[in-house]
Amino acid sequence: MINLLIFGPPGSGKGTQSVRLAEKFNLSHLSTGDMLRSEIVAKTSLGKRMSSIMSKGELVPDEVVIELIAEKIDSTKDCAGFLFDGFPRTVAQTIALEKMLNERGMKIDSMLVLDVEHDELVKRLILRAELSGRPDDKDSEVIENRIDVYKAKTEPIIDYCRKRGIYQSVNGMGTIEDIFERLSGYMKKIL
Ligand code: AP5
Ligand code: MG
Repeated sequence: MINLLIFGPPGSGKGTQSVRLAEKFNLSHLSTGDMLRSEIVAKTSLGKRMSSIMSKGELVPDEVVIELIAEKIDSTKDCAGFLFDGFPRTVAQTIALEKMLNERGMKIDSMLVLDVEHDELVKRLILRAELSGRPDDKDSEVIENRIDVYKAKTEPIIDYCRKRGIYQSVNGMGTIEDIFERLSGYMKKIL
């Protein structure tokens, strides 16, 4: 089993690239953002509790996403590994993920970080707002807050992973196809 983190700020293309990579390399794509949005659509009590946090662009509590991920890891069969998208988001989540994987005889094998300029992130998210219906894309202040939260709470994971020798930066500018080719090149080295 190979376990990869696809990493980067909001709008960097984590979801877009994960779908393609998961298909090409037979990985299970685990996106905590998608899981939480499904809870909101299904009007579960968890979804109701998390929706206002998400619409402000703040992070939901660590224990909520850790539990969602643990359930998925245990219920997913027949894949070559996991591709974690939007998780972990804090150093505490990273430590929890390492523990969870270690207990199951696995580890985090690599972290691929999409490097995208700030103005391009904002441009992509504003464009998506027209189609996605995601409340956190609609307001430019919320978009900026998501980017600030990424810098303050999520970016420190890069240092944590760099020290473990699993960090790889990837140019996330250009067409979706070009970036997919770059990521696929790194994947072939890892697999
Ligand atoms: P989450 O769903 O993870 O959202 P995000 O990190 O803010 O990032 P996005 O999904 O918006 O961007 P992306 O990098 O996936 O880019 P995408 O491929 O979509 O989290 C949402 C919220 O849930 C959080 O704010 C938090 O509240 C909560 N949450 C989730 N996980 C959590 C966790 N672990 N802990 C705590 N809270 C958590 O691309 C964006 C757009 O750009 C798309 O329209 C796409 O078509 C377009 N695009 C992509 N690539 C290109 C390209 N190369 N050129 C042009 N357009 C492109
Ligand atoms: Mg996403």
